Amino acid sequence: MKKLRTLALATAITMLIAAFVLFSAAAQIGNADAFDAAATYKGKCVACHGAAAAKKFDATLADADLVQIVLKGKKAGKPPNMAGYEEKGIIEDQAKALVAYMKSIKK
Ligand code: HEC
Repeated sequence: MKKLRTLALATAITMLIAAFVLFSAAAQIGNADAFDAAATYKGKCVACHGAAAAKKFDATLADADLVQIVLKGKKAGKPPNMAGYEEKGIIEDQAKALVAYMKSIKK
């Protein structure tokens, strides 16, 4: 019985360590938590989309499409076009955060 308990404890500790290692690795790669969507929006997007995301932003489109547009860009009927921000270093989680932020400020 005692052996079983020791084994269970060892397993639990191993899993805790593994979870911690995975978590810190993910935090380093994605860093989605540290990403400030509001600041990025004000720096890069507000000029075309406006302070309340009222311009050139159809919030009725599916989230997945909106995220893809942030990553890959979109040609408008006439210039200026929406640039693809993936090549400027925006990752998918950050694009999601930006879309969520735009929806939150749109009235
Ligand atoms: C040079 C102007 C410009 C900048 C800067 C810009 N966009 Fe856009 N964006 C556009 C245009 C134009 C469209 C296409 C609108 C259309 O289809 O009529 C668009 C479309 C979008 C869409 C899809 C919504 C739709 O109705 O098509 C999203 C989401 C979006 N932009 C997010 C962003 C984000 C986030 C940033 C900053 C990282 C950004 N945009 C920066 C011009 C810009």
